[in-house]
Amino acid sequence: MKKCREFVLMSFLLCLSSSTCLTAGESWKDLAQRPPMGWNSWNTFRLEINENLVRGIADLFVARGFKDAGYEYIVIDDGWQINRDAQGNIVVNKKKFPSGIKALADYVHSKGLKFGIYSDAGYKTCGGYPGSRGYEYQDARQYAAWGVDYLKYDWCSTGNQSAPDCYRLMRDALEKAGRPIVFSICEWGTNKPWLWGKGVGHLWRTTFDIRPTWDGGRMVLSKGVQIENFIGFTKILDLQVGLESYAGPGHWNDPDMLEVGNGELTLDENKAHFSLWCMLAAPLMLGNDIRKATPEIMEIMVNKEVIAVNQDPLGKQGVKVRDDGDLEVWSKVLQDGSRAVVLFNRSDREVNIGVLWTEIGYPEHVKANIRDLWQKKDLGSSSGAYAADVPSHGVVMLKIVP
Ligand code: GLA
Repeated sequence: MKKCREFVLMSFLLCLSSSTCLTAGESWKDLAQRPPMGWNSWNTFRLEINENLVRGIADLFVARGFKDAGYEYIVIDDGWQINRDAQGNIVVNKKKFPSGIKALADYVHSKGLKFGIYSDAGYKTCGGYPGSRGYEYQDARQYAAWGVDYLKYDWCSTGNQSAPDCYRLMRDALEKAGRPIVFSICEWGTNKPWLWGKGVGHLWRTTFDIRPTWDGGRMVLSKGVQIENFIGFTKILDLQVGLESYAGPGHWNDPDMLEVGNGELTLDENKAHFSLWCMLAAPLMLGNDIRKATPEIMEIMVNKEVIAVNQDPLGKQGVKVRDDGDLEVWSKVLQDGSRAVVLFNRSDREVNIGVLWTEIGYPEHVKANIRDLWQKKDLGSSSGAYAADVPSHGVVMLKIVP
């Protein structure tokens, strides 16, 4: 008994003196029981990141209701590191982060938020900075000492390395480092991480990088550079079909970070993108400059009823239950037995789309209450089916409660 008390006291003192302690009851496998929510620098800022930007995002998370809506992780992507020192320690780019990573993590934590970082399983990151290959345990210890809560681990310059082995190695290193760190496998789906990712990471990318467009093809970047063969959000959506059974609490398919508020997307397309990512039980990592978001984009990002569909504790990924070419019906089973339903119109004009109860697993005779989650309005009850006018490139998102 005395020994036990001493142990508890010792652990408490250790925790006071170090930032690497686990919170009571928290272990690696208990993390990400719901799809992680947060913000990541990559989709907007690429390699041009710095500590003031991150501090500003943390401030806004609190001031503009993101934290209240459930967003938690603030993650710096590629470009924070510069080289390694003589002891092999990763060195932060002091021009971008003059106060260092620990101070930044402390700041984010002081707002009641969590802090994430990026590295790569190869010798170099995709931006050309040092990766973690050969330094896995050293880096994991460093992240834990800095107070990192989330690691996105990329797959550039990995040659013929084995993906499952590399990600298991870093998983082991993180576990050994003793701090609960959400592990985000960013392997782009090429080695089918959904087949081996459960228990290795908490989420895994299923495709190559998303771009802020409707379907993909060609895009001219701001500096006049044209890129081809990239994928917009509907192309990525198509690639999620068939992966539903691999997702669940603590192990999520990741169709990449959100492009809401970015690029060429119209308001209806932004709503469709957000709704469908919620239906997919996808991690909700915002990727826009939230400092400049318009009121309409703000409303999308913090719609709590839509977010509740994503965060539903049952953790079921939504399924496409009907595909009539341009017109689709998606359904997500929720813990209370109700369904979230998205009527999705890919065509270029408004169309009336209906959902049949039998398509979403209810007998025809059942009477159900219908709520429109974007209009935040109860629409009365219906038996057997419900139909609504859906704007071009848009959605109607419903909660159907028998
Ligand atoms: C890859 C990833 C992106 C981003 C960049 C950083 O392309 O898929 O999400 O992290 O690398 O260089």
